[in-house]
Amino acid sequence: MPADNNFTVTPYTVEGNVEYDRLLDQFGADRLTPEQKAQFPDHPLIRRDIFYAQRDVDAFLAAARAGETHSIVTGRGPSGPMHIGHIFPFYFAKYLQDQTGALVYIPLSDDEKYLVKDRTLAEISAYTRANIRDILTVGFDPDRTRLIIDSADADVIYPLAATLSKELTPSTVDATYGKSENVGRSFYPAVQAAHLLLPQLVIGRHPTLVPIAVDQDPHVRICRDIAAKQRYAVDKPGALLSKFLPSLDGPGKMSSSDDTPSIQLGDDRETVFEKIQAHAYSGGKRSIDAHRTHGGNPDIDVAYQLLFYFFEQSDEQVEHLAQEYRTGSLLSGELKEYAAEQIATFLETHQKRRAQLGPLSAELPKYRLSADERCDARRRVGFPEESLAQQR
Ligand code: TRP
Repeated sequence: MPADNNFTVTPYTVEGNVEYDRLLDQFGADRLTPEQKAQFPDHPLIRRDIFYAQRDVDAFLAAARAGETHSIVTGRGPSGPMHIGHIFPFYFAKYLQDQTGALVYIPLSDDEKYLVKDRTLAEISAYTRANIRDILTVGFDPDRTRLIIDSADADVIYPLAATLSKELTPSTVDATYGKSENVGRSFYPAVQAAHLLLPQLVIGRHPTLVPIAVDQDPHVRICRDIAAKQRYAVDKPGALLSKFLPSLDGPGKMSSSDDTPSIQLGDDRETVFEKIQAHAYSGGKRSIDAHRTHGGNPDIDVAYQLLFYFFEQSDEQVEHLAQEYRTGSLLSGELKEYAAEQIATFLETHQKRRAQLGPLSAELPKYRLSADERCDARRRVGFPEESLAQQR
């Protein structure tokens, strides 16, 4: 298990003060180079090193630039309502889709969250539907986007996961995730491997990129090991790894599972202001006089960090705020107000679009795999054409 004295990062636990560079040594991933950054469509999440590390992004970038088939897989474990830290990879994926025509595959691992969390199937199912609305609100192109729900798309996910699981030993799974509490949880990495290989299994070998928070990297590693065995005509998926959006109470992951409130996608303006004013950790000085004299520290200030991570698009403005804060002319309360304003405005736009979306029964079918796509994926892991014929 990748753990040490100061922090632990696995898909199921994020604790302590994450040292992002040391984590890369543990995981065996690399920093994005300036050359790689320059090849991405220009975006603040890349420019500001929020997506800071990678595995094999070059093939994806080359295909994107050449206008060849390339895909993105980024998913969601529906264990609760989504908060602002959960949505930015989806807005980023949508941006890439607009810029390069990327195909986007979005799996929802309701099975995983049932196995890992203390929640009923009814609860998980309600979150799945609510989360899908938030994800569809982002505005993906239905012709280039597929949404997969593990339990509802079991006809394709199960045959793939079962087949891929034969390449995965229990000791690899235990070494990667720590000891499992149930066998479903031990099996789940094969399900996520099916997600990450799905675009290639549906349409044939091509570069895939998985933009995710760095805690999900073990899933990518497992999948890459399976792909490397070359039993299937697939390339290893690449990874684009992000830092964690800070939680309101300070550095680390913005967690939805502990006591600190996080900002939910459904929060109204007043709630956003209240949560930030009351809970956002401040890098300012205790008194206004001391702050005016000595200045604040934006590097540890959560309001500033939220702006830097996602909610202030303009580099100039971000730099200006940092400077004013350091010199003491911008007060902590003012900075919080500015951040709350930006976040509330972002959320209002999201909520308005979410309300305009039709019922899921009308929206979701546009994004589901076709019968042919399901058969093609099963054929590519080895199911013979005869066994698929009647399903086409
Ligand atoms: N395991 C992810 C989580 O807990 C959700 C997920 C499922 C995912 N499949 C994925 C993320 C594929 C990225 C790519 O949040």
